[in-house]
Amino acid sequence: MTLLGTDIEQISRIQRVLTRTPGFVKKVFSKAERAYCDKRSRPAQHYAVRFCVKEAVAKALEMPVHWSEIEVTHDTQGAPRVRVSGETARKLGRRAVRVSLAHAGDYATATALIE
Ligand SMILES: CC(C)(COP(=O)(O)OP(=O)(O)OC[C@H]1O[C@@H](n2cnc3c(N)ncnc32)[C@H](O)[C@@H]1OP(=O)(O)O)[C@@H](O)C(=O)NCCC(=O)NCCS
Repeated sequence: MTLLGTDIEQISRIQRVLTRTPGFVKKVFSKAERAYCDKRSRPAQHYAVRFCVKEAVAKALEMPVHWSEIEVTHDTQGAPRVRVSGETARKLGRRAVRVSLAHAGDYATATALIE
């Protein structure tokens, strides 16, 4: 069975969270994710889309997840890949998770496919 999940976030809302709650970033995103986002010209859009990935994977798995257990990496072409750990990895088992990300204007979106 193929499982599908999607999410959309308002980038300005994530920007407010980043500004008001600096602890949020460390709790939710890995060191490598933070390094990737922080070196871009609009970090909030990259944080927002990574947050979408976490929510999209949770929807596909039909369970709440620990956000820090879902990390976005990139392949050599720049295409996003997902690394899962902990409880999320146990739930996923041997299945593969694939994601697609996009951001434009004030919105970021991600779709996750588990097969
Ligand atoms: C990849 C590409 C389509 C992104 O388009 P864009 O309009 O600039 O940006 P979008 O908002 O739609 O998507 C951005 C996300 O695409 C993802 N992405 C980057 N390269 C990618 C690739 N080769 N394949 C799939 N996704 C990719 C990234 O996750 C990025 O988000 P992030 O930087 O926060 O991780 C564009 O850079 C491009 O045309 N690259 C060259 C051709 C290519 O590799 N195409 C593959 C898809 S057809």
